[in-house]
Amino acid sequence: MTTEYRHTPVLLAEVTHYLSPHPGSIVVDGTLGGAGHAAKLASAIAPDGLLIGIDQDDAALAAAATTLRLGQQTRLLKGNFGDLDALLSDAKVPYVDGFLFDLGVSSPQLDFTERGFSYKGDAPLDMRMDPSAGGLTAADVVDSYQEADLARVIRDYGEERWASRIAAFIVAARARRPVTTTSELVDIIKAAVPAAARKDGPHPARRTFQALRIEVNRELEVLEQALEAAVRWLVPGGRIVVISYHSLEDRVVKQTFAKFAQGCTCPPGLPVCVCGAKPVLRVLTRRAVVPTQDEVERNPRSRSAKLRAAEKL
Ligand SMILES: C[S@@+](CC[C@H](N)C(=O)[O-])C[C@H]1O[C@@H](n2cnc3c(N)ncnc32)[C@H](O)[C@@H]1O
Repeated sequence: MTTEYRHTPVLLAEVTHYLSPHPGSIVVDGTLGGAGHAAKLASAIAPDGLLIGIDQDDAALAAAATTLRLGQQTRLLKGNFGDLDALLSDAKVPYVDGFLFDLGVSSPQLDFTERGFSYKGDAPLDMRMDPSAGGLTAADVVDSYQEADLARVIRDYGEERWASRIAAFIVAARARRPVTTTSELVDIIKAAVPAAARKDGPHPARRTFQALRIEVNRELEVLEQALEAAVRWLVPGGRIVVISYHSLEDRVVKQTFAKFAQGCTCPPGLPVCVCGAKPVLRVLTRRAVVPTQDEVERNPRSRSAKLRAAEKL
């Protein structure tokens, strides 16, 4: 495996603007990657701040450790941000002033074809962000799910209109022999998607690969858990910034922020509030912040990024 780890941080100035870190802040980067954002945050909170970097990927943690000056003020934790409570409690973090979640996969995860995230190249069909944690691989999902469940995953998480056909083609193919590599799956998807639909738009396998990655890593479920935990850890005035890369993630972020910003959960029509719930967040971004044209040209992988930010009341 190549050891070079290159990832250009997305919306860097906007992250700093909305997180507004200052010397002495405690900041958690829940998706450390190569520490592109974290390096900037670490210098903004120096000399006496505390930066906690979390990632579930060993290659990311190793790369970040070479970028950041580790020590009392900068600590790296291996784990899933879905376990935020346990990670922060075990590390004896007292409270948090700012959280960053820059979701999805890093460029190296896509570029190291052997991780099985990419529909380009050939590799075992894996897609687990933390293979050491065990759990189902994409090959296990493709091999063992009922056809209806495969179609649901591909439709719901890939927003793929040809989901049912792709699921049917997978089931037919695996009856002949197990589908174990990315290129075998790409060939099945290409056969399932009608030629006319393959002429324009993104690669025909892109949506199905996204869907399998979300399923394998339970991405939407752990995101919701992480956001709920983050809100509890924030001090009043503390901020949370999330960058998402597809509409399903963005919806979870938007709805979770809206839920905390709304407070009262009484059914509409009640003359007075009886639930007593108070808003705990103020949403800072009425609309998602997106990269400038210039950033997209410099870093095409920023194209689909959407940033949302909120402040604890
Ligand atoms: C887009 S990259 C972050 C890049 C980083 N902001 C930078 O500037 O280098 C996303 C990172 O989050 C990690 N990640 C994704 N989901 C995670 C989860 N549930 N728990 C922990 N880390 C996760 C991935 O392993 C990846 O390294």
